Amino acid sequence: MAIPQSFLDQLKMSCDIETIVSSYVPLKRAGRTSKGLCPFHSEKTPSFVVYHDSESFYCFGCGAGGDVISFIMRIENLGYIEALKFLADRAGLPFPEEEREDPSLRIKPLIYEINREAAHFYHDQLKSDVGLSGREYLMGERKLSAKTVTKYGLGFAPPGWDNLRNHLRKKGFSDEDMLAAAVVSRGRDGKSVYDTFRNRVIFPIIDIRKNVVGFGGRVMDDAKPKYLNSSDTPVFKKSRNLFSLNFAKNVTDSRLILAEGYMDVIAMNQAGFENVVATLGTALTPDQARLMATYAKEIVIAYDSDGPGRTATNRAVGLLEEAGLKTRILDMKGAKDPDEFIKKYGSERFKMLIDGARNVTEYQLGVIRAKYDLGSDEQRAAYLQEGVSFLASVPSDIEREIYGGRMAQEAGVPREVVKVSIDSVRKKNYARARKKESSDLQSGRLELKMGRKAGDAAEDGLIGCLYYHPDWAGKIIPKVDESALSEETAKIYRLLLEMQRTGGGTLSDLTPKLDEKESGRLAGILARVSDGQLGITPEALGDYLSTIENARLQKTLNGSGEMSLEEAEALAEAIRRKKLKR
Ligand code: CTP
Ligand code: MN
Repeated sequence: MAIPQSFLDQLKMSCDIETIVSSYVPLKRAGRTSKGLCPFHSEKTPSFVVYHDSESFYCFGCGAGGDVISFIMRIENLGYIEALKFLADRAGLPFPEEEREDPSLRIKPLIYEINREAAHFYHDQLKSDVGLSGREYLMGERKLSAKTVTKYGLGFAPPGWDNLRNHLRKKGFSDEDMLAAAVVSRGRDGKSVYDTFRNRVIFPIIDIRKNVVGFGGRVMDDAKPKYLNSSDTPVFKKSRNLFSLNFAKNVTDSRLILAEGYMDVIAMNQAGFENVVATLGTALTPDQARLMATYAKEIVIAYDSDGPGRTATNRAVGLLEEAGLKTRILDMKGAKDPDEFIKKYGSERFKMLIDGARNVTEYQLGVIRAKYDLGSDEQRAAYLQEGVSFLASVPSDIEREIYGGRMAQEAGVPREVVKVSIDSVRKKNYARARKKESSDLQSGRLELKMGRKAGDAAEDGLIGCLYYHPDWAGKIIPKVDESALSEETAKIYRLLLEMQRTGGGTLSDLTPKLDEKESGRLAGILARVSDGQLGITPEALGDYLSTIENARLQKTLNGSGEMSLEEAEALAEAIRRKKLKR
C-alpha cells in the first residue's frame, strides 16, 4: 500500500474510535468499553461494544468487528482507501498524493463517465429514427408519456453488436474500461467484445448522488430473458442499490412503496407517486431493507398478486420488520401488478388502494380466509382453526384482540370462544418454545464437551497471544503446524507473524489485508481478551497449543472427525507417546 506510515499514524491519532462510532450509534460508556445497538444488524438489546484499550469494536450478535477504518468501510460502504480519505476529510488532514495511484480510485470515476455517456447514447437512440420500435413499445404499448421517458432518461439499445462500443471508442474509452463498466461483455472465446444490451429498451439505474451506476434492459416482445441487468461493477452492487431511490429519497412522506420491477415503479411515478422503489432483478436483501429504513418508517409492499409475488411478500415482510420498519401490504384485486392496476382503474383508485393497504396480520388472515367457503359449517370450523393458530403467533395484544374479534364475527361464533382458543394455543406454543430452548442449550453444552468448539477457542487463544505478545513468536512458531489451523486462522496467524517481523503494529495495520469476516473474527478475539474470557498467559498458550496439536492428530486419524473406538484408542496412544517424549 502506497500510503505513507506517517500519515496513517497521524490519522489514527486524530480519529478516536469512540467519537467516530458514536456519531452513528448512540453509545453508553462503562469503564473501558462503550456499548450500543449494533448498526450492522437489527437488535433490541445492545451487543455492540467499543473497546478503548484495543481501539476496536465488536458485535457479539452478528460478529461484525474491526478498527475505526473497518467501521467506516462497512457503515459508509467504502473501500479501504476511500475510508481513509473519508476519515482524513473529517479530521481535516490533507490526503497524501499517492491516492491517485490506487486503481479503484481511477476506475470508479471512469465507470461513472462511461455509464453517463452510454445513458446519453441510449436516450438519443430512443429519440432518433432507429429508436422507433423502442418508442412504440414504451409510449405506445406501455403508455408512458414523453415527460416520464425524459424523467427516467429511458433509452434504446439498437440491434447490432457494437453500436455502443463504437460510440464509446470514438469518445476515447478503451475496451478494458468499458468491460469494467459492464456496458460491453467479453465473448466465450475470451477475446471478442460486444455490446451487453442489444435491441432492448433501457432503464438507467441512478444512485442518490445522481451517478448512473448501471442499466436494466427489456425486450420488446416475448423473447427471453425478458430483462437483463448490468452485472455488479465497482460502482454497482445490486444487493445494495434500489431503483428510483434518487427520486424517492426527496419525498417527505415517511412511507415508501416497494415494487417488484422497473415498470411498476415508473407507472406509479407517472400516476403521481414518487415514493416508490424496486429491487434490481433480485430478491430484497437485508442491506436494502436497512437502506429503506434510513428514509422511511413504513413500507407498503406492492408486489405482484400471484403466487411468487406472495412468497416474495412474506420474505420481504420479515426483512423489513427486522430493519425496524412497519409494513403494510397492498391488496391488488383485479390486476396482477400496480402497472396493470393503474392502467385499468386509474390513479385515484390506486391512491385509495395505498391508503387502505392492510397491515400484515390483516393481510395474512385474508389469505387464510380466501381458502375457505364460509357458507359451509365444516369450512367455517376449518377457517377458525387455521385462523386461531395463526393469530396465536401474532405478538401484538391489540391485533390479536381486533382480528380475533373480526374472525369470530365472520365465523359466527362468540368473541370469547376465539379469545380463549387463541390463549390456549399461545400457552402451548410457549411451553414448546421453552422446551426447545432448554434442549438447544443442552446440545450446545454437549457440543462443547465433545471438544468441537474447543478447537476454535484454542485457535482464538493462539491468535490472541500472538497479537498481545508478538515477542512469543519464537516460542510459538516451532510448535504450530499451520496446516492444522483453519484457513481463516492461518491467514491471520501469518499476517501477525509478518507484522511482528516488520516491526510490529496494531489492528489497523491489518485492516487493509482482512475482509469483513476476518476483521470481525480478529476484533472478536481482542474483545474476549479484554473481557477476560480468553486468557493470554503462558499457561493458557500451552493449553491452546496442545489442544490444536491434539485436534490435528485426531484429524490425521480420521478426516471426518467422527472416530471409531479403535481410532480413539490409537489417538489416545499417540497422545500418550507424545507426552512421554516431551
Ligand atoms: N426481472 C429480471 N429478469 C427477468 C425478469 C424480471 O431481472 N428475466 C426483474 C426486473 O427487475 C423486473 C422485475 O424483476 O422489473 C419484475 O419482473 P416481472 O414481474 O416479470 O416484470 P414486470 O415489471 O411486470 O415487467 P413487465 O411489466 O415489463 O412485463
Ligand atoms: Mn408488469
